[in-house]
Amino acid sequence: MSTPPLIAVATHHGSIAELLADAEFRSLANRDGFLIELRLDYFEDLCEATLAQALEVFAPNVLATYRCLEEGGKRQNVSDSERIHYLQLCADRGVKFIDIEARTPREGFDLRGAKLISSFHNFDRTPDDLESIWNSMAQQRDVDFIKIAVMPQTVFDTRPLLEILRKHGPRSILLAMGESGLWTRILAGRYGSPLTYARGESAPGTAPGQLTWRQLDELYRFREIGADWQVYGVIGNPVGQSLSPLIHNAALKQRSLSAVYLPFKVELRPAEFVKKFEPLGLRGLSVTIPHKEAVLPACDSLDPLAEKIGAVNTLVWDANFSIRGYNTDAEAAADSLQSALGPMAGKNVAVLGAGGAGRAVAFGVKSRGANVFICNRTPEKAQALLRDVGATVTGFDTLAQQKIDAIVNTTSLGMSPNVAESPLTESQIPPGCVVFDTVYNPRRTRLLELAQARGCRIVEGVEMFIAQGARQFELWTGQKAPVELMRQAVLAQLK
Ligand code: ATR
Repeated sequence: MSTPPLIAVATHHGSIAELLADAEFRSLANRDGFLIELRLDYFEDLCEATLAQALEVFAPNVLATYRCLEEGGKRQNVSDSERIHYLQLCADRGVKFIDIEARTPREGFDLRGAKLISSFHNFDRTPDDLESIWNSMAQQRDVDFIKIAVMPQTVFDTRPLLEILRKHGPRSILLAMGESGLWTRILAGRYGSPLTYARGESAPGTAPGQLTWRQLDELYRFREIGADWQVYGVIGNPVGQSLSPLIHNAALKQRSLSAVYLPFKVELRPAEFVKKFEPLGLRGLSVTIPHKEAVLPACDSLDPLAEKIGAVNTLVWDANFSIRGYNTDAEAAADSLQSALGPMAGKNVAVLGAGGAGRAVAFGVKSRGANVFICNRTPEKAQALLRDVGATVTGFDTLAQQKIDAIVNTTSLGMSPNVAESPLTESQIPPGCVVFDTVYNPRRTRLLELAQARGCRIVEGVEMFIAQGARQFELWTGQKAPVELMRQAVLAQLK
């Protein structure tokens, strides 16, 4: 078996003094499976004496980098030879990895047993000719690993990285930055790459896409992911706030399955994404806003309920790589609402939103005998749903004048980070009805706060979220989902 990949935790500290005072980084020093990436260009107190102090603590499990300005380095007016001088001190001290940009001359540099990472960065875009960049870097003298870090505009820009990983994984460290490139960090080991990068938990800035070492290690089980692992995930936009990775990875780990679940930020063309990224090892996907209808062309077949709804939230690959679409929202929503409303037959239920989630909820409550009312910003979409499910269309403004027993929000209004938004104002909420928000992050949305102020009973989206996720897990794995574990994972996060 090949060696598991390493997690290189990058220093973010402005000085070596600050780094040496950081208990988190000291606790990672020489911890099995980890490296500290010393970013020498960040340290304003860098000199031979302070570097020696840092190496005393962290060597040999160090990746030493002194980035040049042109490729994202922090320090002005420093010559190549000075940078090489400091990296040579690191090599002399026996560090395991040295990163030198492909463009930096390094005549006379003596690796002394360190592995050389030749690197290339583009912080603006993903160049078209990645393969030829890789090939020319591979021809350089003494290069052990080739690091290419690029900035994708969309997830589709990351597809060429997969080609290179499949051909040259064990020699490559390929990174697509930002949220669109998250898979390149998590799945590096699946292709035999030697390492990936992470940030410290105390590092400032939480740009989406930058994972902490603990997320990689504990949530994604980064070091265990091998070539035979199955890949699951959620496609949507936004996905940064989704708690699906949390519940599904917890469940997969608890069941000791060789599978990992990733967030994929997909802005457009979800069906094309499914086809193009299937070679990642995809065996199942959750589908969220705004793709529950647009993803339909990717399905080879549909479960009858999903077909009736005309929207899916779950894709399942079978052993022949045929993709079947399911909708686990409808039942989950009806169960959640019923727990507060009781038997639904003859009750008037208003559904806010007529997208994929709205359609699923409308079918779910209709199948239990409720009279369905639809409110939607775009009237044509409400009309289509009215035809398909047999509902009454009504306006957000006129809702409060009608006899409504329950309201279900299926729009994304109020979802983190836009927590101040609400589909209804307080006076638009019919007094005395049950208000159920399918948005679960935050738990107590603005709509639910307004409903409470209005004296309404409320239903949080968490239980529906867990129920639809548990059903997905069962469709993918054929095993019963550890529901209580999934619930605890969500509640701990939303506390
Ligand atoms: P999903 O498939 O997950 O339901 P969707 O198809 O994009 O996602 O549906 C999102 C729903 O939220 C739609 O009903 C949308 O209304 P439109 O049909 O008018 O687009 C609704 N929605 C999103 N943003 C909204 C906003 N700012 N105000 C009112 N409704 C909004």
